[in-house]
Amino acid sequence: MRNLAIIAAVSENRVIGRDNKLPWYLSSDLKRFKQMTIGHTVVMGRKSHESILERLGHPLAGRHSIIITRQRAYEAPACEIRSDIDSVFREAAANHVRQYFVIGGEAIFDRALPAANIMHLTLVHTTCRGDAFFPNYDKSKWDTEKKCFVPKDERNEYDSTFMTLLRRSS
Ligand SMILES: NC(=O)c1ccc[n+]([C@@H]2O[C@H](COP(=O)([O-])OP(=O)(O)OC[C@H]3O[C@@H](n4cnc5c(N)ncnc54)[C@H](OP(=O)(O)O)[C@@H]3O)[C@@H](O)[C@H]2O)c1
Repeated sequence: MRNLAIIAAVSENRVIGRDNKLPWYLSSDLKRFKQMTIGHTVVMGRKSHESILERLGHPLAGRHSIIITRQRAYEAPACEIRSDIDSVFREAAANHVRQYFVIGGEAIFDRALPAANIMHLTLVHTTCRGDAFFPNYDKSKWDTEKKCFVPKDERNEYDSTFMTLLRRSS
């Protein structure tokens, strides 16, 4: 069972964020993100959580949110708070019912990469300025299972490609 997934939108120069926001508007990517994660557990860093709160005014609806922070007194209503990120990965590995999606940001993707067995990436066809980056992963360890090109239009600022990558069995 592929129960620990990474899901991310990444520019050609590996940018994922700027000023604690997404650096683009891609309606098709937001729809795909919702379709894939709805009903499941989403795992994110404290800053990504705050970025979602700023954009939506509430945590992601219809998903169980786990927020990773080192702050002992951090409060996030309707979410689960965890300081030990590895405990989340262990839990995901032991859970054969629930699907866990790691949704960002930089440090969280970095820590999740060795544990994840599937990645749903949206490659955003632009190079842009940013201050949060997706890790430079070893492509020889991943097989591309699916690829779908999405052209830019009035609701999608850039061309993009949806990709699903599976960890190669060694
Ligand atoms: N393009 C995408 O797919 C995508 C997805 C998600 C986010 N983003 C973007 O990424 C940016 C936010 O990402 P970010 O990298 O700046 O921050 P982040 O990873 O969301 O959050 C960083 C925070 O997470 C906590 N943390 C990180 N590693 C930890 C660990 N090992 N143990 C315990 N706590 C840990 C710390 O919180 P404390 O400081 O509270 O201890 C740290 O300050 C935003 O621009 C957002 O829009 C993009």
